[in-house]
Amino acid sequence: MAKAERILIVDDEIVIRELMSDILTDEGFSVASAPNGMAALKMLQESNDFVVLFTDIMMPEMDGIELIRKARLVSPALVPIVMTGYATLETARAAVKEGAYDYVLKPFNLSEIKMSVTNALERCRLSNENASLREITELFNISERIASIRSEDALLEFVLNAALERVEAERGSLMLVSDDGLEMTVARGVGLPQDYDHAAVHVKNSISGWVAENVKPLFVEDIRQEPSVDKLSWQLRDNSFISVPLERKGSALSGPDACKGRVIAVLNVTEKRNQKTFTEADLKILSIMANHAAAALENVRLLADVEDTQREIVFTLGEIVETRSQETGFHVKRVAEYCKLLGLKCGLSSAEAEILRLASPLHDVGKVGIPDAILNKPGKLSVDEFDIIKTHAQMGYDMLKVTKGHVLQAAAIIALQHHERFDGKGYPNGLSGKDIHIFGRITGIADVFDALGVKRVYKDAWELDRILELFREERGNHFDPDITDVFFANIEEILEIRDSLSDIE
Ligand code: C2E
Ligand code: SIN
Ligand code: SIN
Ligand code: SIN
Ligand code: FE
Ligand code: FE
Repeated sequence: MAKAERILIVDDEIVIRELMSDILTDEGFSVASAPNGMAALKMLQESNDFVVLFTDIMMPEMDGIELIRKARLVSPALVPIVMTGYATLETARAAVKEGAYDYVLKPFNLSEIKMSVTNALERCRLSNENASLREITELFNISERIASIRSEDALLEFVLNAALERVEAERGSLMLVSDDGLEMTVARGVGLPQDYDHAAVHVKNSISGWVAENVKPLFVEDIRQEPSVDKLSWQLRDNSFISVPLERKGSALSGPDACKGRVIAVLNVTEKRNQKTFTEADLKILSIMANHAAAALENVRLLADVEDTQREIVFTLGEIVETRSQETGFHVKRVAEYCKLLGLKCGLSSAEAEILRLASPLHDVGKVGIPDAILNKPGKLSVDEFDIIKTHAQMGYDMLKVTKGHVLQAAAIIALQHHERFDGKGYPNGLSGKDIHIFGRITGIADVFDALGVKRVYKDAWELDRILELFREERGNHFDPDITDVFFANIEEILEIRDSLSDIE
């Protein structure tokens, strides 16, 4: 690298600034940081060689969105990326609309940050090379889609189709490298001869095998000019093709085995439309897509592991809560399903709604810290006793906040906020309106709906009519009016869930 690219980090928390600086410095970048928007703008005015801006969203005085707006006036070529906690995912999306190029979620995931920077730098390079704006926009729409896909099958499918579309190829395949590195299997194919479906080839006698072993793309304009390659090809009908490796990043292997295991898959395309020949630009587009696809594929595989673990933890913790408070397990199961339904109907993505479903059973996890005599007191609580009960929200948050991973982070927020009220009269922090995370607002509604309908040590079950009456009264007071409307609009489905997960069974 002739000159390290300069990156500016803006966050009011020193820990975040230091963490990000360390990560990016290790990656060979030249990093500067600022504790607030004003200081950041000053640095941008004084030096015009910053390439990427990482900024927190919620900062006193000038928030990240305003900083991005102002920074772009000072330095139009700067690529802004926002850093955000789960609490502000919606805000992060808004920031992307405002011109932020990407967002990374706290707590940070190393590979996510690297991928984000790599993408940003590629975007700069592409802009510099004067590629058409449409081209860039499309490529980055594709990258965004690639990064958002959560299942391996869907990812492979999308990558292959998008690649074929972008370079106007009629035939192509994605070949996965086997665990032992000896075989390549067709995971996805388009326009291939029929018997190629899920066919396997040895790495030593195929084009994709060569690409995997050498960790190098292969671009052939006319295969007849290259007999050594021609020998390897699988009855290609066309003379021109491109094969690019999906390379695992950050592998520390060196020495003779350096290449081994670095390539996860190979993307092949051939038969460009209208008998045209592929170009260097096609190769570049495919290489970029392969980069993103590789990172995404690794993430998807990692996430699958992590989510299994999280599911287990969530389940175990959930069971503890149930035993302690003498509630039946069906309470948390119903709450989970109500939450998912309301989430979807409120417009959350299916991934977010699923996270909410998995996380919401932990809303009362902090009750493990409440003395039995209070928690299971048959009658009404005294004011002091209720004050102690109220600590379960903060305690739940404190237990969960140290965790990593989407589900448990979401659970932490839910534990903290499920007793906040829309009118600001809730606890522990008296938040109001949309300051309460949507996960907290939804779980609050689901929890009360279910708590009222069942018998507790301290109360009888309420009739449905009385419950709905309370919901009408509390619309806009205890409960978010919009979510309350969604609740009533979907009451049939809510009651179906209630019946199918009834305690009596
Ligand atoms: P929980 O039993 O899971 O109840 C959750 C929430 O449902 C309550 O939050 C409240 O908003 C609503 N809710 C439950 N029962 C009633 C009711 O009879 N009338 C009304 N208007 N709302 C109800 P809240 O009040 O913050 O209570 C939090 C937790 O404190 C409860 O969780 C329960 O574990 C405990 N708790 C509350 N009141 C009493 C009580 O009088 N005696 C005992 N032993 N525990 C209580
Ligand atoms: C924080 O800054 O710690 C909260 C997360 C965010 O708003 O970005
Ligand atoms: C290969 O040669 O490895 C497969 C290429 C293709 O058929 O797309
Ligand atoms: C999303 O779908 O945008 C968020 C869910 C996730 O990060 O897994
Ligand atoms: Fe609670
Ligand atoms: Fe509850």
